[in-house]
Amino acid sequence: MYQANDNRYNTMSYRRCGKSGLVLPPISLGLWHNFGDVDALDNGKQMLHTAFDNGITHFDLANNYGPPPGSAESNFGKILKDSFLPYRDELIISTKAGYGMWPGPYGDWGSKKYLVSSLDQSLKRMDLNYVDVFYHHRPDPSTPLEETMAALDLIVKQGKALYVGLSNYNAEDTLKASKILKTLGTPCLIHQPRYSMFDRWVEDGLLDVLGTEGIGGIAFSPLAQGLLTNKYIKGIPENSRAAKETGFLQKETVTQAIIEKVIKLNAVAENRNQSLAQMAIAWLLKDDRITSVLVGVSSEKQLLDNIGALNCLTFDASELEVIESILK
Ligand SMILES: NC(=O)c1ccc[n+]([C@@H]2O[C@H](COP(=O)([O-])OP(=O)(O)OC[C@H]3O[C@@H](n4cnc5c(N)ncnc54)[C@H](OP(=O)(O)O)[C@@H]3O)[C@@H](O)[C@H]2O)c1
Repeated sequence: MYQANDNRYNTMSYRRCGKSGLVLPPISLGLWHNFGDVDALDNGKQMLHTAFDNGITHFDLANNYGPPPGSAESNFGKILKDSFLPYRDELIISTKAGYGMWPGPYGDWGSKKYLVSSLDQSLKRMDLNYVDVFYHHRPDPSTPLEETMAALDLIVKQGKALYVGLSNYNAEDTLKASKILKTLGTPCLIHQPRYSMFDRWVEDGLLDVLGTEGIGGIAFSPLAQGLLTNKYIKGIPENSRAAKETGFLQKETVTQAIIEKVIKLNAVAENRNQSLAQMAIAWLLKDDRITSVLVGVSSEKQLLDNIGALNCLTFDASELEVIESILK
């Protein structure tokens, strides 16, 4: 029987999520990869235990995580039952709906029909009464924003989620959605965009909206799916995400031009006595509109490496200048 580390809250400094009452750990763990039926359950269990033992209280899922879709939630449900039931009130568990999940016209996008049904399915798979955060996973150009936001509000009022979030919405739509949600009395807690040194679209307006609306930001793919580590410097290792058939990182993305930048960034990280993964995480956390950085890991070792980022979160101006010149 798993017994959580008694010292789990001794070193982690939690950060307030926007203007809400909720704080989150600066590093959260995502279950997009490495928790499906194609993966080893024991490894997933070990990573979740290590995360919680180190003060990581937030685990992020979605209806479609796997493969096959749904299996990450089912596997998480098993681990939850075995290990985490005594700790449920210490956990922030999120899930999402927005991508294709079941056949027919009601298993995708952003209608009230899809979102309510999908969350009911997610709760069954995880064997939970409620999730802490329910997200609309991507904007739906065909459903009125009012309907999608009313569905999020309904889900909270039904007690199936405590808070709501948006993911992959641009600045303009985030602002509109946030205004609707505030009117309904269910403010948007959090926004989950892709954000890393290699993908900085959020700096062009979205972060400002998060700041003014009081919404927390949680950056996904902070290591650009593993590119922002030293693992691809000498080629594509076996078993890496880029090598796996089920991985979303395409081999073609690992270009010479990217690796040249990675080598230079790695040298900056070494000068800071950090791994590149640690520096990439710290670089995101320097902006207080980013409440948490949502990492994915395939081993306990990677998770511990990433947590080590918290030992050095500050940058001096010259380091930031060098990083900018490399990223240009
Ligand atoms: N809202 C959305 O639309 C959306 C989309 C994508 C992701 N997400 C969320 O964000 C989470 C994280 O995304 P992500 O998995 O792409 O994040 P990531 O942290 O950028 O990439 C994770 C991968 O990087 C490698 N890695 C991690 N730490 C490492 C280290 N210290 N040293 C060497 N390699 C390391 C591992 O690759 P190997 O497997 O090769 O070892 C790992 O699987 C997801 O689990 C999910 O919760 C949300």
